[in-house]
Amino acid sequence: MNAASNSGRPEGNPVSLWVATAATTGYPAPHGDVEVDVAVIGAGIAGLTAALALKRTGRTVAVIETARVGTGVTGHTTGKVTSLHRLAYTELARRHGTSTVRTYGEANQAAIEHVAAVVAGEGIDCGFRRVANYTYAETDDAVARVREEAALAARLGLPATFTTDVPLPFPVKGAVRFDGQAQIHSVKYLQGLAAAVNGEGSFVFEGTPAQRVHDGSPAVVVTEGGAIRANDIIVATNVPFGGQGLFYLRCHPHRSYLIAGRVDTPPLDATFISAEEPLRSILTASVGGSSYVLIGGEGHRVSEAGDTAGRYRRLAAFAHDRLGVGEIAYRWSTQDGVPLDGLPYVGRMSPTAKHVYVIAGLRKWGLTNGTAAALILTDALSGRENGWASVFNSNRITPAASAGRFMKENAKTMATVLRGKLGGHPGHAALAPGEGAVIKVNRESTAVYKDPDGQVRAVSAICTHLGCTVAFNSADTTWDCPCHGSRFGTDGSVIQGPAAKDLPSRPAP
Ligand code: FES
Repeated sequence: MNAASNSGRPEGNPVSLWVATAATTGYPAPHGDVEVDVAVIGAGIAGLTAALALKRTGRTVAVIETARVGTGVTGHTTGKVTSLHRLAYTELARRHGTSTVRTYGEANQAAIEHVAAVVAGEGIDCGFRRVANYTYAETDDAVARVREEAALAARLGLPATFTTDVPLPFPVKGAVRFDGQAQIHSVKYLQGLAAAVNGEGSFVFEGTPAQRVHDGSPAVVVTEGGAIRANDIIVATNVPFGGQGLFYLRCHPHRSYLIAGRVDTPPLDATFISAEEPLRSILTASVGGSSYVLIGGEGHRVSEAGDTAGRYRRLAAFAHDRLGVGEIAYRWSTQDGVPLDGLPYVGRMSPTAKHVYVIAGLRKWGLTNGTAAALILTDALSGRENGWASVFNSNRITPAASAGRFMKENAKTMATVLRGKLGGHPGHAALAPGEGAVIKVNRESTAVYKDPDGQVRAVSAICTHLGCTVAFNSADTTWDCPCHGSRFGTDGSVIQGPAAKDLPSRPAP
């Protein structure tokens, strides 16, 4: 059975704090064909950063976005702009060696300064603040790992120290601290980038899904409103839509959850993440005259969704019990691709691609990895050398360790596919308002949702990417694909790829 009740909904308005507190943009869709130097698909951090950097080199650009600027993954992040990625340096050094991990750190640290320079240069009002970022440990075992991370990061030239002085309201044994990090209101930052991109022969188009990409001279993005012709195309849609580059097999989609609660105290000049499980990401922010504490965590592979409402409740319990947060105002979730070998993919879409480039696998640290990726492609399209490009190369030869991982990750996906095919539900009459379930209707798997008013809405339950069966997510009221992370609204519309087509509607049973 694949159903969930709306009874006992978790606390909070189900929308990202950043989306809820930003104005809505209103860029048009294209009406007719457009010619520019570079077409960028995806108005998230990577796409818009690349678009503005390319415009600053004298190119014309067109950014196309399925929904609105900032409504995708970037608008659902924590807002941390940091090169301290929990314990990434020790983890990545074991897999790739010190030289590679030094480059990763350099790129992410430079990304912070790039964001700072853009905010200052464009005058973007996005709450940019300098903070220290901590990975904290509460146990002896974790504190040893935190010490190791601090020592390695300092040797790599990053602004790292080990400290036992951690400004959290509960006791911890120590932390690695990175100074000079930052946080932003991610949607307002993206809207500032979009405003700087649009105009002078460059465009931002919203409500414009890319239907197809053609690699050639010119390279073409086909949309309903017209063709975008360009010398080069950058696909920056988290996971490339459709099957391009097989990145849906090279990154496994991972979902994370966030809540934001109002508090009376002003924001700290610090952000935090736990070294231990369960992961807890903590930060404070001042938005629209209110102070908030944000807690993230409860992440999992998309194929292992389980009790989504319970995940929000556990974050809320942590906020109440350990941080003294009262009312939870907002809750939301997001997904990002975790690359098989731990490093983002940036470069040509495939070894044979000529004018189509990709940014993918930002490993949940997209505000810096996405910015660094955009700068790599800006150099690539400008004929400039970039010292980070080989480490992030989208067509790197996968080492033996990753081949094993590839088999393991995709075997898990196949097991999920089979479980989905075997599922079933007694029928739509058994659904309570707010419930959804996959039901056999005329022998076809149908995703049936009964809204709070009792109206029944039905769409095909077969994911338009590669045919897995979607499952209902009761806390977010979405149909989620367990295989490669596509998400759909209850009307079947694509919220997140790699699926490029909506779930077709079906007659209500
Ligand atoms: Fe690949 Fe659904 S996302 S089959």
